Parts: sequence; structure tokens; C-alpha cells
Amino acid sequence: MDIAPGVGELDLHPDHLPDGLVVANRLGLVCSFNAEAARLTGTAPAAALGRPVEAVLPLEDPDGRRWWRVTNPYRGLSTRSGQPERNLLLPGGREVLVAARYVRSRPAGPVRRLVVTLRGTDARQRSERSNAELIATVAHELRSPLTSVKGFTATLLDKWDRFTDEQKRLMMQTVDSDADRITRLITELLDVSRIDSGRLEIRRQPVRLDEAVRRHVKTLVNGGCPAERFDLRVTEPLPGLWADPDKIDQVLGNLLENAVRHGAGTVTIEMHRVPPSTTRPEGTAVTVSDQGPGIPEEAMHRVFTRFWRGGDGGGTGLGLYIVKGIVEAHGGTVTVGRSAGGGARFRFILPAGTPAFLA
Ligand SMILES: Nc1ncnc2c1ncn2[C@@H]1O[C@H](COP(=O)(O)OP(=O)(O)OP(=O)(O)O)[C@@H](O)[C@H]1O
Ligand SMILES: [Mg+2]
Repeated sequence: MDIAPGVGELDLHPDHLPDGLVVANRLGLVCSFNAEAARLTGTAPAAALGRPVEAVLPLEDPDGRRWWRVTNPYRGLSTRSGQPERNLLLPGGREVLVAARYVRSRPAGPVRRLVVTLRGTDARQRSERSNAELIATVAHELRSPLTSVKGFTATLLDKWDRFTDEQKRLMMQTVDSDADRITRLITELLDVSRIDSGRLEIRRQPVRLDEAVRRHVKTLVNGGCPAERFDLRVTEPLPGLWADPDKIDQVLGNLLENAVRHGAGTVTIEMHRVPPSTTRPEGTAVTVSDQGPGIPEEAMHRVFTRFWRGGDGGGTGLGLYIVKGIVEAHGGTVTVGRSAGGGARFRFILPAGTPAFLA
């Protein structure tokens, strides 16, 4: 690995650190107290320096125990090298994440320096809050089809003889489609979790985008959508594309299904080559537009977020989030706008990509 010039003589002031840093000497007196530590504790560096670290940082664990008494860095076990990160409380109940390192001159020798890092928990609390919201939404989404499944199966078991075959078939069909909805939601959630954790794997192969689009249109037509609703316009030649065919199918599937289900009128699919520029390599642009109500201007920035739904089209609102995740994992971009006919217009651009063995 290359070492950047200047790294050898690390010119870093403790105030440049994003975390709070408190250092105590061998007597337990504070000898360094950076700006972030001052911000988190509300104590000025001048008021901290030279004072005992226990007095400057009167930390308690969530059970109200004094942390310094529990950990006892100077007189505790001489083989300890520090304390793992813990959530502790400062006076006034402010939460901080605290970790400590015990610096000894020789193994099992006395502690020469005590280095403590402090981190605010705001960001963590925010992400915990958004996880809690996500769990609530998912639970809600799963509950409504399950309530319907449970309702129909319980009714059928209870009053089997009172229904005609036709009524029973109708109920079983509803149960069947609710079960499909749950499976689809779970599949989508697994994709969302792969996208969020950066674990979405892209297995690149040569992909014929125009053929893939034709295949999707055919599936929709076979499913009962009139063929006249689709207008495919390909400007030849399209550049070669190395992409993950299954993932590209997911992108096309959702955009076309959205245009049919949430949009109206003719669905136009345009494809053309995007020449290389200083900001991006050569690629292919695919535009899907329809003549429906479109996406309201004020909601355009939200369509790619999780669980956003405009009308009552009966989806889960994860499709476009997954589309964006997949396109970006390919190094591409996706945008939303308004079509000339007033409907929605989605456009994604995929870079030509390189075979996996060259990447
Ligand atoms: N072509 C379109 N015209 C009008 N509204 C659209 C169009 N495409 C998407 N939308 C709106 O955006 C919302 C989100 O779309 P998205 O594909 O993310 O979810 P969904 O289709 O509702 O569910 P699913 O997760 O099954 O795809 C839709 O619910 C719909 O309100
Ligand atoms: Mg959708």
C-alpha cells in the first residue's frame, strides 16, 4: 500500500478527532482533553486539565454504579489492556459511548497512560429509531394479509358444511393470493436488507437489454394486458452490457409493472446509447413512461424511499427502493420525472460494465 506524503510525521491535533479524547497520566490526572470531549461533557478543557479523571468524567453505568470504581484502571487487574465500548451516563443523564485503553510501559506493569474515548449516541439513537419505525411498518404490512388468511381459514374450519363449493373456492383463492403477498413482501425485505448492508452481489454477464424488455412485455401481455399498450423504441446500436441478468429483470419488472398498475394509457419504453463523457462511461439509457396521473411534484424526492406509496395501487412501496439499490450497485443512476403526456417517467442509465474477470 502506498503511504501518502506526510503520514510518517502524523500532524494531528487531538481537537481534529471526531470523537472525544481524554488522556490521564500515571497518577490519574487529566493531561489531554480535546474539543469534542469538552462539547460532550460541557466541561471546558481548562477546567479539566490537571484534575483527577474520575472527577472530570463522573461516569455511571445504566444501573447507577460508578464506572471508575467498577473498572479501577490503576489498581485493578494488571493484565487488563482496557475496557470495551459501553453506553454510560454523564451527570444530567446524557448518554455517551465510552471505551478505554490502558497503556503500560511493560506487560503487567503499572498504567502509565489512561486513554478514554467518548462518542455521542445521537446518530445511533437516530438509526435505532428508524429501525424501530421499519419494524413497525413491516409488522403492519405482514399483519393485514395474515389477518385475512386467518379469518378465512378459521371461518372455513368452523362452518365448512355451510358453504357451497364455489364460496369455498373463492375463500381459498383469497388465502392463496394473500400468501403470495406475504412471500413477495419477505423476498423484497431480504433484498432491502442486502442493499442496506451493502451485501447485494452483482454477478455480471453479457445482457441483451432490448431482449429482456421484449420478454417482460410478453409476460405482461400473456397476463392479460393488451399488446397495444406497449410502445418499444430502440435506437440502434446499443452498446454491449455486462450486468446481472436476474437483477436487471427485477428492475424492468418493477418499472413496467408500475407503469401498468399505477399508470395508464400507452407505456413507452425507449432505449438508446449514452456516449462516454468526462463524468461517466459509455452506457445504455432506458426510459419507461406512461400517460397516467404521474408522481406529484412534491413527492418526487420520496418515490425511491422505503415504503412510500402514492395512490392505492396495492403494492408494498419497496419496488422502487430496490430498483435504485440494484441500479446503483451496477454503477448506474435512476431518476424520476414527468412524461410529455403528463404521466410518470422513470429513466435509468447503466454503464457498459466490465466482465467480472477484468474488474
Ligand atoms: N408509473 C407510475 N405512475 C404513477 N405512480 C407510480 C408509478 N410508479 C410508481 N408509482 C407510485 O410510487 C409508489 C411506489 O412504487 P414502488 O414500485 O416502490 O412500490 P409499489 O409498486 O407500491 O409496491 P411494490 O413493492 O410491489 O413494487 C407506488 O405505490 C405508486 O403510488
Ligand atoms: Mg412497484
